[in-house]
Amino acid sequence: MAFAALGNRRHGQRRELMALTFRRGSLVLAVTVAVACARAPGHQPHFLPIVESPIALPPGFAAPPTPRDNPLTIAKAELGRYLFYDRRLSLNETQSCASCHQQKFGFCDGRPHATGSTGQQHRRNTMSLANVAYRQPLTWSNPKVTTLEQQVLVPLTNHDPIELGMDGHFEELLARIRGDSRYVSLFSSAFPDQNAPITIDNVARALASFERTLISAQSPYDRLVLYGDSNALSASAWRGRRLFFSQRLGCGSCHGRSDVVSLRNVAITAPYMRDGSAPTLSDAIDHSRKKITAEEKRDLIAFLESLTDDSFLSDPRYSNPW
Ligand code: HEC
Ligand code: HEC
Repeated sequence: MAFAALGNRRHGQRRELMALTFRRGSLVLAVTVAVACARAPGHQPHFLPIVESPIALPPGFAAPPTPRDNPLTIAKAELGRYLFYDRRLSLNETQSCASCHQQKFGFCDGRPHATGSTGQQHRRNTMSLANVAYRQPLTWSNPKVTTLEQQVLVPLTNHDPIELGMDGHFEELLARIRGDSRYVSLFSSAFPDQNAPITIDNVARALASFERTLISAQSPYDRLVLYGDSNALSASAWRGRRLFFSQRLGCGSCHGRSDVVSLRNVAITAPYMRDGSAPTLSDAIDHSRKKITAEEKRDLIAFLESLTDDSFLSDPRYSNPW
């Protein structure tokens, strides 16, 4: 009897949390859907839009901050998804954003150093884009990049190293886009107030909008923290969690700061550190230079593994739409 009551209460609690998620998610997205629908052209080609189900915000997540001139809409995010996976965004048409930011690796590339479209090596390890909407500052290297819209221009125009190689070639890029009827339609849905919406600024706005939808919050650890599921972690991961937040190891005091690299999905984003120098999680943990026993390390790794959000890595709304 007591057991059943407990079960019911748990059940009730869960429903409440889900309702909350839904309410918050639909609050933001109800607005965006309304805007998108009110202004979309009457005829929708059949390939539009693939992101039909809105991305609900998890409990405790605020709506991603957006610049005043680029409110998030489903139509913009969907356009951004096409651009993100489009190799025509590189001069020699060999690379897209997704060449380096691959969904299956949590939007990293699994290499120590990124390699650009002309084969030049990046000095740095590609960064994950999970929950990038909430990251401040952006990138390892340039404190001046404060919005995702500005950041888009970095890989497009970078010379050292060359990433997409588009500096001085924006007209060519825009001509490629204007020549594709799918884009003509996607851009006019995304920017319904504009007569000539195919511009670099709007390319950046759409890519940034897509990136703001890359929300990951379904790992076992999220299930514990956000949804109160006390069965989400294994015994070893529980011990690892305690160690991680212990004063002795102090991992949590650095890794709770928003300017330190996120450990979300870290188990699948090897190699580690900004220079890609640590091939495994065990090597990465060694950076803390703390005395850790082999068993403690196993527990820490089990905890880090509980930060992997498998549904994010396979969510069809983030996959290649082409
Ligand atoms: C050649 C590989 C490569 C390509 C192509 C590429 N990126 Fe990146 N990206 C990186 C690397 C490496 C970093 C880390 C850069 C740094 O800090 O210097 C990064 C960082 C970022 C960041 C910052 C993440 C953070 O948490 O601060 C964003 C956002 C981003 N890229 C988006 C994009 C978009 C959008 C595109 C396509 C227009 C793109 N990238 C194309 C390799 C690439
Ligand atoms: C003094 C602050 C600090 C402490 C303490 C600390 N870390 Fe870190 N950790 C960092 C920074 C900064 C980086 C990124 C360094 C780089 O990329 O070169 C990092 C990187 C990592 C990475 C690799 C992340 C990636 O994607 O490249 C892992 C894993 C990690 N830390 C786990 C731990 C664990 C586990 C502990 C506790 C045993 C710990 N850290 C203690 C600051 C800290």
